[in-house]
Amino acid sequence: MTGGAPGTTAPGTTGGGTGFHGMWRDLLPIGRHERSGGYRRYAWAAADTDCRAWFRQEATARGLAYEVDRNGNQWAWLGDPSQGGAVVTGSHLDSVPDGGAFDGPLGVVSAFAALDELWARGARPAAPLAVVNFGDEEGARFGLACVGSRLTAGQLTPRQAHELRDADGVSLPQAMEAAGHDPDAIGPDPERLARIGAFVELHIEQGRALDLGGHPVGVASAIWPHGRWRFDFHGEANHAGTTRLEDRRDPMLTYATTVLAARKKARLAGALATFGKVAVEPNGVNAIPSLVRGWLDSRAADEDTLAAVVAAIEQAAHERGARDGVDVRVTRESFTPVVEFAHELRDTLAGLVSPDAPAPVLPTGAGHDAGILSAAVPTAMLFVRNPTGVSHSPAESAAEDDCTAGVTALADVLEGLACR
Ligand code: GLV
Ligand code: MN
Ligand code: MN
Repeated sequence: MTGGAPGTTAPGTTGGGTGFHGMWRDLLPIGRHERSGGYRRYAWAAADTDCRAWFRQEATARGLAYEVDRNGNQWAWLGDPSQGGAVVTGSHLDSVPDGGAFDGPLGVVSAFAALDELWARGARPAAPLAVVNFGDEEGARFGLACVGSRLTAGQLTPRQAHELRDADGVSLPQAMEAAGHDPDAIGPDPERLARIGAFVELHIEQGRALDLGGHPVGVASAIWPHGRWRFDFHGEANHAGTTRLEDRRDPMLTYATTVLAARKKARLAGALATFGKVAVEPNGVNAIPSLVRGWLDSRAADEDTLAAVVAAIEQAAHERGARDGVDVRVTRESFTPVVEFAHELRDTLAGLVSPDAPAPVLPTGAGHDAGILSAAVPTAMLFVRNPTGVSHSPAESAAEDDCTAGVTALADVLEGLACR
């Protein structure tokens, strides 16, 4: 399925809701770029606001209690949250630039659909249940991923959040306010987290492990440590047609060499390193740049390897900068330590999803709100097969049957955790 939708015949939890097919259909056009076919759903911008309106509509159509928390995350409650021990499921609705349809939305749509399926089965939860949409998971606009869950978990202070700015200089509080959310209230929310007994995030797999093993659904074991580093290469602007090569201080050369070095260092260490975003000043065809700014995303199976790879890339940048007359400054913009999901919950999930044969348990290099929350609440993830492994691209896809299998697996998990 690339843009189509699996169908489900499950009625709404309390008689409302449009089923997986209807939800997918309604969400699909929002923020889709006409030319690329990818999604541009950036935190607090118009498409994100439309996605949030969709979430509210799905919550109220089912008679769920809708609320937005102090950090702008949306919640839809079945049962009384103050009872404690809540089982929460969901994901995010924002996207990377030209992202796919599934990264995030599959988890939110499947969450509502799993509640529908529970209801259709006649299962009635003893614990409160909630669907959540965490704000600004991808960090595409303000540069930091998982802002909503980080704020909630106290891993991002309000002061740090107030300093975040988008490419146009709009601050996060300004963007929140423009979208109708009070930015003065942002901050840690320990009372909310204390009410959660388990958080389960369903997500499309962003690799091919399930496909290669022939499994529609798997369970996450761990998230690789990862981070973002901004490399500023300061050179000297000059005329492209008159400046002798030996007189240039060209930061593009240093940047280019650093990109190649990143690839090599990552390969040698069995890690990952990507420069996926670059900004050039003044950005003229016939001018040597004064500044090249490149963002490194690097990930590895363990923190020591990640630290060593990034240090080696920095060293290569400085060495080349010295030869080019270019000043190199590196700023770590974010870092997420390794996440090992709670073994007990992980094993419970694997048993619920696949009682007869063990469900595959796999690590991922992708970051998730579940990883952020895992420091505060028991957290687990389900992955749905991605036949190509492609993600963060309009080509991201999942088969209709696999999406349906994901909903069933999630409903099994919710039933197992909340209905006993
Ligand atoms: C989020 O998708 C990330 O891993 O960057
Ligand atoms: Mn993503
Ligand atoms: Mn995601």
